[in-house]
Amino acid sequence: MDEGGSRIRRRVSVRKRNRPSLDSVSTACPATELKPSDEEKEDKEMEAGSRRRKTVDVQPVEIIDSEEDMFGDYDSFAENSLLAQVDDLEQKYLQLPEHRNHATDHATEDLCSGSNKHNTLNVPTVGDCTELNIDEHMKNQSRHEDVSIEPEADILYDVPSSQVLFFENLYKSSSDLGDPSTEEKDWNSSSPKTVNEKLPVNSREQPQQTVESSSKIRPSSDANMRKSLKDHLKSTMTGNAKAQTPIFSRTKQLKETLLSEEINVAKKTIESSSDDLGPFYSLPSKVRDLYVQFKGIEKLYEWQHTCLTLKSVQERKNLIYSLPTSGGKTLVAEILMLQELLCRRKDVLMILPYVAIVQEKISGLSSFGIELGFFVEEYAGSKGKFPPIKRREKKSLYIATIEKGHSLVNSLIETGRISSLGLVVVDELHMIGEGSRGAILEMTLAKILYTSKTTQIIGMSATLNNVEDLQEFLQAEYYTSQFRPVELKEYLKINDTIYEVDSRAENGMTFSRLLNYKYSDTLKKMDPDQLVALVTEVIPNYSCLVFCPTKKNCENVAEMICKSLSKEYLKHKEKEKQEVIKNLKNVSGGNLCRVLKHTIPFGVAYHHSGLTSNERKLLEEAYSTGVLCLFTCTSTLAAGVNLPARRVILRAPYVAKEFLKKNQYKQMIGRAGRAGIDSVGESILILQEKDKQQVLELISRPLENCYSHLVQEFTKGIQALFLSLIGLKIATNLDDIYRFMSGTFFGVQQKVLLKEKSLWEITMESLRYLTEKGLLQKDTIYGSEEEFQNNFHITKLGRASFKGTIDLAYCDILYRDLKKGLEGLMLESLLHLIYLTTPYDMASQCDPDWMIYFRQFNQLSPAEQNVAALVGVSENFIGKKASGQAIRKKVDKNIVNRLYLSFILYTLLKETNIWSVSEKFNMPRGYIQSLLSGAAAFSSCVLHFCEELEEFWAYRALLGELTKKLTYCVKAELVPLMEVTGVLEGRARQLYNAGYKSLTHLANANPEVLIRTIDHLSRRQAKQIVSSAKMLLHEKAEALQEEVEELLRLPSDFPGIVASSTEKA
Ligand SMILES: Nc1ncnc2c1ncn2[C@@H]1O[C@H](COP(=O)(O)OP(=O)(O)OP(=O)(O)O)[C@@H](O)[C@H]1O
Ligand SMILES: [Mg+2]
Repeated sequence: MDEGGSRIRRRVSVRKRNRPSLDSVSTACPATELKPSDEEKEDKEMEAGSRRRKTVDVQPVEIIDSEEDMFGDYDSFAENSLLAQVDDLEQKYLQLPEHRNHATDHATEDLCSGSNKHNTLNVPTVGDCTELNIDEHMKNQSRHEDVSIEPEADILYDVPSSQVLFFENLYKSSSDLGDPSTEEKDWNSSSPKTVNEKLPVNSREQPQQTVESSSKIRPSSDANMRKSLKDHLKSTMTGNAKAQTPIFSRTKQLKETLLSEEINVAKKTIESSSDDLGPFYSLPSKVRDLYVQFKGIEKLYEWQHTCLTLKSVQERKNLIYSLPTSGGKTLVAEILMLQELLCRRKDVLMILPYVAIVQEKISGLSSFGIELGFFVEEYAGSKGKFPPIKRREKKSLYIATIEKGHSLVNSLIETGRISSLGLVVVDELHMIGEGSRGAILEMTLAKILYTSKTTQIIGMSATLNNVEDLQEFLQAEYYTSQFRPVELKEYLKINDTIYEVDSRAENGMTFSRLLNYKYSDTLKKMDPDQLVALVTEVIPNYSCLVFCPTKKNCENVAEMICKSLSKEYLKHKEKEKQEVIKNLKNVSGGNLCRVLKHTIPFGVAYHHSGLTSNERKLLEEAYSTGVLCLFTCTSTLAAGVNLPARRVILRAPYVAKEFLKKNQYKQMIGRAGRAGIDSVGESILILQEKDKQQVLELISRPLENCYSHLVQEFTKGIQALFLSLIGLKIATNLDDIYRFMSGTFFGVQQKVLLKEKSLWEITMESLRYLTEKGLLQKDTIYGSEEEFQNNFHITKLGRASFKGTIDLAYCDILYRDLKKGLEGLMLESLLHLIYLTTPYDMASQCDPDWMIYFRQFNQLSPAEQNVAALVGVSENFIGKKASGQAIRKKVDKNIVNRLYLSFILYTLLKETNIWSVSEKFNMPRGYIQSLLSGAAAFSSCVLHFCEELEEFWAYRALLGELTKKLTYCVKAELVPLMEVTGVLEGRARQLYNAGYKSLTHLANANPEVLIRTIDHLSRRQAKQIVSSAKMLLHEKAEALQEEVEELLRLPSDFPGIVASSTEKA
């Protein structure tokens, strides 16, 4: 056992590649114990391969990534083309005269491998051959190597008993097969072949196993026929999806098997709820290696360890934890999610606040999914399937925005699958107190709490105050710490003086220094707040974020700073900045914003919602790689993507016209000094004398409480909630609905929020309102008993509104509009349909430019102009407005505005160019883009609405097509590429032109080749694209496999089966 133990230690440690492991050295192991295990041999095989690669300087295909990026050393087992290329390269290399002998060895290795296919036990195995060859090869190679790449000494770990158990099992299974030689064999000499053949007995990951075991229950020839067809289909698809070279497939198989075994052991450990936490918090040691490899995280912070080992966490109690910004909260959530996916074999939902963050997370976790065998599914924007695809074996991690997370939970409840969700993680939990999104988040969590007792809920945030309320709502434990890995110093600037925020000082601040930047008179006028002085202390070597109150202010400040910067700044990373400009033009059809054109050469850019998502992505990439060093941005960036800053400056203590809130302040300054990026961080809030008192109060007071918005957001909150409770049959009578309400966050805070009404009254009132609106009906048919009086059911209109997630404020208008459309829908062009799917809420906030309105109207065909008349907007009205004449007749402003927005969308669909449309309508391109995505989403909602109402049958086909057009608004051939997370139109076009025309092309692409062929594509982006494409392809192949299985499955009521089971009985 001792020996086994040492083997295990060894095995655990060899998995790592070029980076050190998470834990520091715990036990020094005697040299004699360092007998390489089978896996080590395989690893050596891989390593030898990679060494060979590294030393082939005549064919420098393998570029060693110098950047510390999370996809460094990517060598996923599902990869084919990269490995195939490496294989080719090796073959070529081995054929060079000086390596002929190795080539021969290699051939022998292949031969051995071939012969061993039929050799179950006890003969010289692949491992033996490989070991010899590779060892020999390694000896040759080691002389050329950089020792630092492959450290000689491995770090050893203490082995927890779960791992010992795993190896006992392994050993036992090999004895069970009756191989005496293996039983007696030293680990060192037992071959991978032997291990490989024995392990799959318990393996979940071996496709053949599944087939074999399933064939056992269908012994008839008919069943065999089915089996072979199924096998054929499965193997072709699986082969296509993860084709690999023969040399590496064995390594892959072995690794998969070992991983699967480790997961099995971890699963048992978790189930037995022992104190032993497995090699890495009950997870396979591979997870630890992946964190080192992909994220550079080598050791957990102390608080992370404490939190993960809390008794309540191990008992799967709900948990809220709160730490300062950059405290490393994500890692804890990720480890808990992996435990759920891999060990407890349940699906996981992670809810994040914005689409961009969802996409960032998808890219970051896809490689974990590929390596560890789970699906990562995107539920954001137009992506997501309801209900989600039921997976046979692998579990899914759904990463969702708040809205999509809610729909996903609804669909799981509706299909009776909510208990498949083992864990729900909510990042930025404080958002529960923010408007309609907060209300939706609250509904989602309340529904989970009510319908599934087994689903664990975990919420985290840096800015929570009234945690007790949240704890009561979520029935959760609470963990908090003040840990921040990088110290953050807070300063205030008043006139020329900088003060440090100091809670011990009498007025909360102490003098720090005077600013002594030499200002000319002109510059003083241009920059009265001395922003230039503050930023030039940091840039260009470090980065700096300047938060501004408005979008316009962001642009002005960026321009102003650049006007004052010396020409020296132009020289810093000049070439890279030119690339960024070229890149921006590339994704914008040759256009470039006037402001950015001027500021980027200085390394400065603005960042706000007026940018298109393509531009935002490029600028963020340039900023995080240090090409750009200064962003002027709005508060949206505060909770947005993780961008590094040495210094964060708040231009003024305002967000738009509102005075800054403590939570906002904390989130904004929290961007400074991020772990792993900066070693120090500081924030400077610029303020005028008049705001001094208010600011001093701000910095000294606690964070704001967060309050439920469920009732405040009437139609989007409590109304929508009740409709769905009854629609989904979660609660259909008054008592249950009241009980549900008592368990909400609002229920907890009701006495504070709405003193004058009781919860019962609020509940009754809302139900009455919904009934009056024709969305609900009382069940009264069964008699006059009270109980029945209190039962409700959803009407057809109610169901349509609920299914379409239509804001109940608009559901009857939508019904009317669609009904009217049935009488005379103009189908000569898309305009009328577009009008019907233009979001109502965007229309109410729009302010048309009447001259443009009039001009656009006159460019329409007579049939299109007739649409305006049909919806109730006359040419006369638009004409009068354009010429500034007074209009007496009352006109519905919402209709007029909505038509204007549909003109924009119509032009966009025709021209597919956001820039020209933005110019034509004199609106920011970012706004045009969000109008388009809003219309795409609403069109899909209207489609679901129509699907529930028989009279709207005609709309179904029409809206299906329109939704697609609005969603992609690009040529059809780019659509498959744009399905991949992070591939937007510009990039899709580039890829398509370079010959990557389908998802399969992308999944098989070699990132190194991609960066050479695609302009302005960073290595990190290339790797993310390939890994996301692989994940998506995997998902699709799996879905097809499931369909095939379903198709070929013998029906349970098949006559023969029923008869024989009856006979047996
Ligand atoms: N144990 C660790 N060792 C080194 N770096 C770590 C560790 N844990 C987390 N990090 C890194 O710290 C950075 C910040 O972590 P994270 O994004 O989880 O912060 P956060 O607590 O969620 O902050 P915020 O509230 O601002 O979102 C990340 O880059 C992450 O990779
Ligand atoms: Mg975070």
